[in-house]
Parts: sequence; C-alpha cells; structure tokens
Amino acid sequence: MTGLYAAFPPDLAPGNVSAAQTALSDIELLHSISVSLIGEQDREALYGKIVDAAVFITGSQFGTMQLLCTPEHGAGHGGELQLLYAHGLPAEAVGFWHYVSPAAYSSCTLALKLGQRAIIPDFEQWADIAGTEDLLAFRRTGIRSAQTTPLMSRDGHLLGMISTHWNKPHHPSERDLRLLDILARQAADLLERTIAEEALREVEEQQRQTAARLRELNETLEQRVAERTAELMQAEEKLRQSQKMEAVGQLTGGLAHDFNNLLTSISGALELMNRRIGQGRLSEVDRYMVAAQSAAKRAASLTHRLLAFSRRQTLEPHATNVNTLMYGMAELIQRTAGPGIVVETLGSSELWPAFVDKSQLENALLNLCLNARDAMPDGGRITLETTNQWMNREAARGIDLPEGDYLCVSVRDTGTGMSPDVMAHVFEPFFTTKPIGQGTGLGLSMIYGFAQQSGGQVQIQSTVGEGTQVSIYLPRHHVEASQDEHDPADESVAASQLGETLLLVDDEPTVRMLLADVLGELGYTVIEAADSVAGLKLLRSDVHIDLLVTDVGLPGGMNGRQLAEAGLQLRPQLKTLFITGYAESAVFGGGQLEDGMHVLTKPFAVDALGGRVRELLAK
Ligand SMILES: Nc1ncnc2c1ncn2[C@@H]1O[C@H](COP(=O)(O)OP(=O)(O)OP(=O)(O)O)[C@@H](O)[C@H]1O
Ligand SMILES: [Mg+2]
Repeated sequence: MTGLYAAFPPDLAPGNVSAAQTALSDIELLHSISVSLIGEQDREALYGKIVDAAVFITGSQFGTMQLLCTPEHGAGHGGELQLLYAHGLPAEAVGFWHYVSPAAYSSCTLALKLGQRAIIPDFEQWADIAGTEDLLAFRRTGIRSAQTTPLMSRDGHLLGMISTHWNKPHHPSERDLRLLDILARQAADLLERTIAEEALREVEEQQRQTAARLRELNETLEQRVAERTAELMQAEEKLRQSQKMEAVGQLTGGLAHDFNNLLTSISGALELMNRRIGQGRLSEVDRYMVAAQSAAKRAASLTHRLLAFSRRQTLEPHATNVNTLMYGMAELIQRTAGPGIVVETLGSSELWPAFVDKSQLENALLNLCLNARDAMPDGGRITLETTNQWMNREAARGIDLPEGDYLCVSVRDTGTGMSPDVMAHVFEPFFTTKPIGQGTGLGLSMIYGFAQQSGGQVQIQSTVGEGTQVSIYLPRHHVEASQDEHDPADESVAASQLGETLLLVDDEPTVRMLLADVLGELGYTVIEAADSVAGLKLLRSDVHIDLLVTDVGLPGGMNGRQLAEAGLQLRPQLKTLFITGYAESAVFGGGQLEDGMHVLTKPFAVDALGGRVRELLAK
C-alpha cells in the first residue's frame, strides 16, 4: 500500500482538481501505475500493485485479483476463481473467498456468468443473494457494494477478475470504470505473461525432475537389474523346489503303494507255505512258491526301473551295433504289438556303434513300443529308425548335450499323441494316464535316466491326433562293435567240475547264507568272510582261491572294489565278481572295470549267479 501511495502522489488523486487537470493527471496516474507494474519482477508483489492501483483508482476499501482455474486444475478447483491477492480483507474473508465457485453469489461470479463487467451497487438490494451464506460473508466483512472487471487475454479468453468493494452502497463513476478498463488491459497482459512463465517453469521443473530421475535410474540400473535377477532366481528356485517336493511325494507314494502290494503277495505266500508244510500238504506248497517268486521278480523289476530313473543302475556297457539290436527285436515287438499294428524297422547303413548296456537299451525300446501300442488301440504303425547325427553346439545345446557325434534310435507311432500338459510330466516316475493296474508310469522315466546315464538324451515330439516320436540319442563309440557277444543268461547252469574255490565276502548274513548255499550246491567250495578285513586276510593267506565274489558296500575300511584291487596285487590271476545294489555303482566310476572284474546286479535269480560264476571261471 504505502509503496503505491508513494508512487501516486495524493495531489493527483481524483476530486482535488479541475476536469482538464483531472484528465491530464489520470494519464499521469496511469503512466506511473504502468511504470510501477512493468518494473515489478516479483509475481506476488505485481498482483498486489495491480489490486492496490484498482483500489486507488476507485477509492474502494477492498480489492481482489482472481485467477480463473483451468478445467485441469490439479486440486480439483477447475472452473473456480482463485484469489491471487486481497486488499483490506480480514483473514477470515480471505479464507472464505480463497476459491469461489461459479455457483456462489458475488460480483465476480456475476461477471463470470455475463462474460463482462458486473456492478453490484448494494448487496442488500440484490434479490438473488438474499438469504445466502454469501450475503452473510459480505456483511461480516463490511462490504456493501462491488464491481468486477474481467481480465481477458489477447485472444479473447477469460484469465481472471479484478474487483473492488466499498463499505457503502456505491456505483463507480464513468471515469473510474474507464481507468479500470485500462488497468485491466495491462493487468491481463501481465497475468497472461506470468501464467505463461509459470507454465514454462512447471515444464522446466518437470524436465529437471525427469532428468534427475533418469540419472538416478541410470545410476541404480545395474543394481536394480541385479536385485530383480536375484528375485527372479529366488522365485524360480522356490518353484523348482516345490515341483521337486511334489515329484518326491508322487514317487514315494507310488513306491509305497506298489511295494505294499508285492510285499503282501510275498509274505502271504510265505505264510501259507509255512502252514501247508505244517499240515504236511507239501504238494500245495509249489503254487505259493511260484506266487512269491513272481511277486519278488516284479519287485526287482520295479527297483530296476527306479534305479534306472535315478541313473544309479549298474550299467554294463559294451560296444553295440544298435541296428543289429533293433532287427533282433523286431519279431518280439511285432508279437507284442498285435496284428492290428504294422511294425517297421529302418536301420541307417553305416550306423555308428554305441557304447551302451544292451539289455537296458532293448528294455527301453520295448517300453517305447508298448507305449506306442497303447496309444493306438485301433491299430496303426510303429516305426523304429536309427540314424547318425552330427550335432553342432547349437543343435546339441537344444537337447542338453555336448557337441559331437550321436546315433539316434527313435520309435514313432501314429497314435493319439500327447497334449503339452501330459508331455510336461511324462518323465516323472509314476506319472501315467493309464487306468490303475495298467501302467506304473515308470517306462519313460526309466528311459530318461538310462539315456542320461549312458551319456545321451531322450527327446519327445508329439502332436495330439497325429502321433508321437521318442528319440534316444547315444554318443558315438569309436571302436568297432563286436558282432557276436553272447548273452550269459542263455548259458545253462553247469555244476562245477573241478571243485573250484570261491571266496565270498558279504556283510549281510542272509544274503551270504543264500549265496553260499547256492554256490555250494553247484559244487564249489565256498569260503565266507563278513567284511573286508577278513576277506583281505584270506587273500593274503596261501588258501587256494579261484574267484572272489564280493559285495561292493562292505564294512571294515575297504569297499569291494578296493578289496578286489588289493587282491589283484596279491594274486595277479584273481578274478572278481561284484554283487551290487545301486548305491555302490558310483564305485565303478562310470562302469569302466579292469580286466577280470565283472558285475552282477542285485537282485538276481539264483540261476544267473551260477551262470555268471561258471562263465568267469571258464574264461
Ligand atoms: N507313444 C505315446 N503316445 C501317447 N502317449 C504316450 C506315449 N508314450 C507315453 N505316453 C504318455 O506318457 C505317460 C507315461 O508313460 P510311461 O511309459 O512313463 O508310463 P506308462 O506307459 O503309463 O506306464 P509303464 O510304467 O507301464 O510304462 C503314459 O501314461 C501316456 O499318457
Ligand atoms: Mg510305458
């Protein structure tokens, strides 16, 4: 205020001078106002000067300047009039009129409605405002009359309002209004400029913030990537863990179920045998024996398949011509598949040999053909095919193998195919879609484990409604496959002729007793030892020993293999037959055995033991 009065000397104030002087002094007044406004750089101070000038021109007690909020006003005041500056208003009034809604009663809302200046010479006489809160507010403030002059931009839109208010009924004079118009013109220009500046500042501020944020993002990018990656890995690990637990649950459940059935058969049969023997009904014992044996055989095959899946079975790999093996199975497969299914074998000429356990490979192919048969209840075609495949790094990585030469043996059918959902689970042990009693769900899981243990891989391609192809990849073996390997199982059990002596080492008394009985019955002299210490002692002695038959897992500080090696040092001609369950297969470090060492996997038929011993002694 004081600044303005200093700028506009009292002697220039209206009323003290003649008309000509008045016109001249009005021009001077406007000029001094204009100069004062133009020189003002501070926004708030500028608004104050504009309002004070309006108050000065109109001789009012109060004055305000308002900004029309744009529709996109952040705090939701779009369309309302925001108070920029007030002259003479008490704090309560400033609060009340801080934002004025277009629906309120006031000279400024009237001007807003009319789109031009509004004058209220006496609020008490204005019918519209009677009885409203707004009138009470004017009364409290001591306002009786008001005028509002719109502030228009150069392109004709409303920017805000400039109002003056008197404490008495009052109508501003023509001269006051003329001067106000001129002031409003300049005020509008200045307001437009400050609005534009404000907008620019906001944009600049946003840009600055964006740039700062970007810089910060860049600086922390690496860290965030690392964090995110760690999070993802953790989530993935959790998922894998839960999948693993699910698989383990499925596995143990399936295993318990199958073994319970088999144990029931075996123990039931033994109990009945016992009873019949007690009753002297010896002729009836035989059928229970057969039942118990067949259940035990099934249990053995179950553990075999499980061990195959866990890649812990003891493999006896040999250089193998897979074509010969495949052709040799064709008839068996055709018989198993039945007349509705055509079986064809396509062997690649010049097929590379593989180093593989033959009987396991046969087993695998047979399982695949059974799956194929089951997928073609209305008949179809099974194609067995062998091919050589050279795989570069990329192709090999696609099926999780190192780069190199592989031979592929595949079984293709024209059956139902599998949905991706089924495909995702087929390698899980006990996963089967077949009715209870028809599938154990171990076929493919066993093949998977076998292929991996053999250094290869299994791949499945399947389309629902078209068929399935399962391919087993085996690494190429660089030695000629022997053409005429004989199968020890074919050999008939001949009794010992020379009364050879066997050293039998096994810590399990029942097993040792059974083995000793069987071998003794075959005519061999059997010396027994319960651990490696006792075994080694005998090997050190001058007792004649033709063959060492030993368990692999042994108490006494040495395992079976170490015992055999020590024996070989003492007796260079010593031959060894290992008898092993799965866990010990690691002892053989990938199945490579020294000359004179052989393996028989538990459980085995008594005949097989005899055959193996005979074979070794004959060599
Ligand atoms: N050639 C195929 N065509 C369609 N589905 C197949 C084929 N081979 C396997 N499957 C699906 O995969 C499942 C698992 O096969 P897998 O050989 O592991 O067990 P299974 O055949 O059910 O039982 P088994 O232990 O007697 O082999 C099958 O139940 C079947 O749903
Ligand atoms: Mg199967």
